Amino acid sequence: MAGLLSPSVMCADLLHLNDEIEKLDALGVEFLHIDFMDNKFVPNITFDTNMVRSFKKPMKNIRRDIHIMAFEPQQFFDAMEIGERDIVSVHYEACEDVHAVLADIRKRGAEPCLAISPDTPVDAVRDYLDEIYAVLLMTVYPGFAGQPMAKGSMEKLSALKKLLSEENPHVLIEVDGHVSWEHCGEMRSRGADIFVAGSSSVYGKDYPLDEAVKKFYSLVD
Ligand code: DX5
Ligand code: ZN
Repeated sequence: MAGLLSPSVMCADLLHLNDEIEKLDALGVEFLHIDFMDNKFVPNITFDTNMVRSFKKPMKNIRRDIHIMAFEPQQFFDAMEIGERDIVSVHYEACEDVHAVLADIRKRGAEPCLAISPDTPVDAVRDYLDEIYAVLLMTVYPGFAGQPMAKGSMEKLSALKKLLSEENPHVLIEVDGHVSWEHCGEMRSRGADIFVAGSSSVYGKDYPLDEAVKKFYSLVD
């Protein structure tokens, strides 16, 4: 399976989001990465639940890849209208009952994913592998775009891939944070499947969007 792309919409042109989504959809990009932050789990706020819900409107084939950086994320699922075709990442560090939150996402017809921050060991996901579509491996500390990669992220990616190959090879790996032109190829070779592309690649202003998307796919094939 070739690498899948999930451009991070918080890095896009925030004054023309409808056009941005339509362009990505037309380019055949699989996912739109939507970061939701509660200003508690992380010291930042991005889109509110109304925006997260509105992103669905222009979508034809592209799917919402919702990354919820919030404590007890299930409180927002109704307002976001979580449903079919969505993939939804919740943080291991932010849920009282991870099993229950993952089951709630699946009950709504969406694919649950489990996110782990840089300081959380890969072993934390071991008990949830049969309940998730993907592990969202944070390669920066969650909360802000434009950060450098967290120390040891590449080695952690290989360790996660090893764990999944042994325990449940169906589970995908999504990498999120400083997925740069320079690093994405190595991330692919170490086992990443879905790439959150933000300010250090697709939204890095080096290329027009269509060229950037094409280049990215060529690097993670
Ligand atoms: C950070 C977000 C990332 C961020 C990626 O908490 O989860 O999705 O937008 O942006 P870059 O690629 O600039 O690190
Ligand atoms: Zn994210």
